[in-house]
Amino acid sequence: REKGWLDDDMVQYQGTWLSPLLTLRSILLMHDLFTARPDDVLLVTSPKAGTTWFKALIFAIMNRSRFSLSSHPLLNNGPHHCVPSIEVLYHNKNQALELDTAPTPRILATHMPYPLLPKTTKSSECKIVYVYRDPKAVFVSQWHFFMQLREKHSLPLIPFHDAVNMFCTGLTEFGPFWDHVLGYWKVSKESPTKVFFMKYEDTKKNPLDSVKKLAEFLGHPFTEGEEKSGAVEEIVKLCSFETLVNLEVNREGILQVTPQYGVQNRYFFRKGEARDWENHLSEEIVKRFDEISEQKFGPIGLNF
Ligand code: A3P
Repeated sequence: REKGWLDDDMVQYQGTWLSPLLTLRSILLMHDLFTARPDDVLLVTSPKAGTTWFKALIFAIMNRSRFSLSSHPLLNNGPHHCVPSIEVLYHNKNQALELDTAPTPRILATHMPYPLLPKTTKSSECKIVYVYRDPKAVFVSQWHFFMQLREKHSLPLIPFHDAVNMFCTGLTEFGPFWDHVLGYWKVSKESPTKVFFMKYEDTKKNPLDSVKKLAEFLGHPFTEGEEKSGAVEEIVKLCSFETLVNLEVNREGILQVTPQYGVQNRYFFRKGEARDWENHLSEEIVKRFDEISEQKFGPIGLNF
C-alpha cells in the first residue's frame, strides 16, 4: 500500500497501482461477470490520455447514420454517458448485469492494463482502440485532475515534486504508465486487427486523417460520397474540445463513479492541447521524463 493520488491508500494488484476507493472492487467484479462479444469495441487509455475525446470520436463514427446533429446523444448526454467505462459500471452489480442485455455493438471504455483485461476480451474478436499520449502531458493533466478532486474532498494537495516522483516510479492510477503503453503495443504488433494504436498528439495535428484511419479500423470506413459531403469534418467538429467543453452536460453534469463518489464532467476538460506541459515542467523534469521514455520506448521506436 502507498500514498496515492486520490487518497492515501493505493494498492498494487498484479503489478498495477489501483485505488481501492474507485477501481479495485469493480475490477474484481468485472473479472467474474464481464463477457466480451465479438463485435464489442473497447477504448483503452491511461487516465488523461484522451479518453473523453476518443469516446466521442468512436461513438460519432460508429453511429453517424443514426443521429442528426440536432438530436445527437453526444451533445445532449456527453461522451461519458454514450460510452460508459467498465470500471464505473462494475461498481454496481445491477448496472453490470444490464450490460449483458445492451444492444450490439457495445462501445465501452477502460483504463485496465492488458494483463488485467478479462479473458474474453482477449479470446473474442472484439476490437481494441488504444490511445497514448506524451507522458509529460498525461502527468500534467493528471496532476490538475486529481488535485481538483482532492481539493473538493478537503484532502491536502500533493506537492508537485512528490507527484513527479510518484509518476516516474510508476505510482499512478493504473500505473506504471510506460508499462501500460508497452503491454498494448506488444499486442498491436502481434495482432494489428485486434489492437489499433492512436496517438493523442497525431490526432490533434491531423484530426481528419486520424478519424478516417479509426473508421477503417472499426469497420466503418467513410465512403467517397461521405468524404465529399464533409462527413469527416463534421465528426471532427462535433468531437472537438471547443464543442464538448461548452455543452451544458459538460459544464454542469456529474459522472457518478460510485454511489458515494462523483466527478464533475467539467474536470475532464482543461486545455485540450498537445504541449501545455511546456508551461508546467522545468527542464530538469522534462529530461527525467524523456529519459524514462527513451529507455522504455526507444527500443521499439515509439516517440513523442
Ligand atoms: P488536458 O488536461 O491536457 O487539457 P481523459 O479524457 O483521458 O480524462 O483526458 C482528459 C484530457 O483530455 C484533458 O487534457 C482534456 O482537456 C483533454 N480533452 C478532453 N476532451 C478533449 C477533446 N475533445 N479534444 C482534445 N482534448 C480533449
